[in-house]
Amino acid sequence: MDPNSVVNKRLSDYVNSNEEVIYLDHPSFLYLKNSQAQQYIKLMHQESYSSEFHSPLVSLIEDKVLSLVDATLKQVRFVDLGPGYPDKAIPILSHLRRAGIEVSYCPIDVNPFFLDLARESVEKITSSIFPIQSLFEEVAHADISKISGVGQNVSSIIHIGPTFMNYAPSEAFDIMLRMSIPGDRLIISTELLEDVSIESAAKIYVSKEVEHFNYMLLSNLGIAISDLRYFVQTNGNCIEMGFTVLRDVALNEYRLSKGTQIVTATSRRYGLKDLKSVLESYFDSYDIYTSIPPSVAISKIQILE
Ligand SMILES: C[S@@+](CC[C@H](N)C(=O)[O-])C[C@H]1O[C@@H](n2cnc3c(N)ncnc32)[C@H](O)[C@@H]1O
Repeated sequence: MDPNSVVNKRLSDYVNSNEEVIYLDHPSFLYLKNSQAQQYIKLMHQESYSSEFHSPLVSLIEDKVLSLVDATLKQVRFVDLGPGYPDKAIPILSHLRRAGIEVSYCPIDVNPFFLDLARESVEKITSSIFPIQSLFEEVAHADISKISGVGQNVSSIIHIGPTFMNYAPSEAFDIMLRMSIPGDRLIISTELLEDVSIESAAKIYVSKEVEHFNYMLLSNLGIAISDLRYFVQTNGNCIEMGFTVLRDVALNEYRLSKGTQIVTATSRRYGLKDLKSVLESYFDSYDIYTSIPPSVAISKIQILE
């Protein structure tokens, strides 16, 4: 897959339809190149970025690990959707190891830099590793079970971190359900908006570093930063990051008009009630664990036999 050609195709479809807002916010688009992955890791090293919900999620997973996984299993396949640096998976994998459970770790990521990082980070705490370089959208249960080193009928834990918030919930659930069979478990991490407004949650994205991270996608397309102004805005329960085009811009195959908005990332936020209602619309039963105060949540779903 040529990363730029996928983004270019989306962009030209939009330009041809004369939309004033162009959504280039597919969750994979910010991670198509290794340089984008490296910039994301830089962001995660910033206390102001990671302390908002990433670190509280890791602490909550550490606290609730006994409830999240069934320690009576002998073998498990751990499918990690978009590991990045797999900080949310590590406490679960460490627990499985301590419990003497054989773990086959299957990170799925579009980006090879992240797959290498995931492999290096969990090498000592897993029995075997089977990375899959692909879009989540293109992987089904059969693909995973073919290569994952454990038997066809071994249960999977299918985990997605805050990348869940970059998807409409139905899309993320469909992706996870395509990868699962009855008996499997889904684990989903989210930030929770209980005592804070979405405007306040959006503030972590207002920084030069996050701007640069978002700009890299447009830079790959040859759009100059001087032709753009960064914005972070809210739209219902979505935080949108992107750029306003400041003057008419001619690119190879198309023109971008002054005033067009290009949304490069969308991140959804849920209150506890909203999170429960999206889970209820898809699953008969689920468990939710929240931090105290309730700033983050882990949802656990068992796929019924
Ligand atoms: C926001 S980072 C999350 C990293 C980490 N899991 C966390 O919890 O913070 C998103 C990760 O998902 C990957 N990713 C995003 N969308 C994807 C898709 N549709 N298919 C495959 N990988 C994707 C990215 O390459 C990156 O590793």
